[in-house]
Amino acid sequence: MNNDQNILTDQFGRVHDYLRISLTERCNLRCFYCMPEEGIVLRPRSEFMSKDEIVSIANTFVALGVKKIRLTGGEPLVRNDAKEIINELSKLPIELAITTNGILVDKFIDTFKANRMNSINVSLDSLQENKLNKITRRNYFKSIYSNIQRLIREDFHVKINAVIMRGVNDDEIIDFIEFTKDNKVHFRFIEFMPFDGNKWDWSKGISYKEMMAIVNNNFKEKVSKIEDKKNDTAKNYQIDRYKGTFAVISSVTNPFCDSCNRIRLTADGRLKNCLFSGSETDLLTPFRNGIDVQPLIIESIWRKKERRSGMETITQFSDSALHSNNRSMVSIGG
Ligand code: GTP
Ligand code: 5AD
Ligand code: SF4
Repeated sequence: MNNDQNILTDQFGRVHDYLRISLTERCNLRCFYCMPEEGIVLRPRSEFMSKDEIVSIANTFVALGVKKIRLTGGEPLVRNDAKEIINELSKLPIELAITTNGILVDKFIDTFKANRMNSINVSLDSLQENKLNKITRRNYFKSIYSNIQRLIREDFHVKINAVIMRGVNDDEIIDFIEFTKDNKVHFRFIEFMPFDGNKWDWSKGISYKEMMAIVNNNFKEKVSKIEDKKNDTAKNYQIDRYKGTFAVISSVTNPFCDSCNRIRLTADGRLKNCLFSGSETDLLTPFRNGIDVQPLIIESIWRKKERRSGMETITQFSDSALHSNNRSMVSIGG
């Protein structure tokens, strides 16, 4: 099949060419906004995709027009065969990227370089050691911070993700931007989103508007809006003469669904046509039974809802009952 065709188009004309594959639901952190306090139930390995299944299913998506694959988790690098999976997927005609919590990055620098993986997204919700350790319920600040410095030194394109929460890290927005003064990174502030088990309520969130009021108040005319790329989830900015840039990902107050090109494949082989969709399409079971999964993928994308899986308004989005069919973030992968 010719992979230049726009096969994965939905009813609204959106072409889906970006696949996010979760390699595992396991994680070496316990971030409170991502994982329920009691953790998630660990299931037998046989319920998850093997390396060969990931590669075969990824091949099917590439035949349907996918041009970029991002590896997510849990934490993708805790998987024992992460290096082999990266080596195999990098043979496909795609851009390969990863989102990681950074802890194991130093063990993967050579793998990233050998496979032309130049774009690495790392989560870092605080520049203060005690605070980060509290948010993540683990003590890895030093390794994460030094691995981010290492990626910068080695000239990777580094995006840092911080979920901004009221009374937690909203006092660090200016410090995060100051970090971009001498470090060539893209610092992204994410509006806190609701997922199963994360005790979300919007009073804990900080809106795009509120974040920009803090930024404009501090940096005044030194703030410039810079270009947002097609399909970007982020609204991008820069402070005059700073080496790095920053952005806001405003999924709650300004969803960017009109330009959505994303598909998600969970570690247990389910296709999610939206980050917030409660109904999933099982690809792994039919794949194991020798059934062609292409029609299932095409059909699921076609049925994708226009916005946030049907939660059009902020009132609907704020209703926790509407999120109970969805997973917790740790088992979606972001
Ligand atoms: P690139 O644009 O490829 O750099 O990656 P990304 O920003 O999509 O990926 P990353 O894994 O770093 O995600 C950053 C934040 O954006 C996370 O909080 C994601 O949940 C959020 N995000 C990513 N994709 C979507 C999406 O399709 N919809 C919504 N609402 N949020 C998303
Ligand atoms: N709201 C917004 N972003 C979240 N992430 C995890 N949980 C949430 C949430 N509730 C982010 C992580 C990571 C990315 C994949 O998703 O910070 O950077
Ligand atoms: Fe795409 Fe759903 Fe995210 Fe909107 S909320 S950008 S439709 S994944």
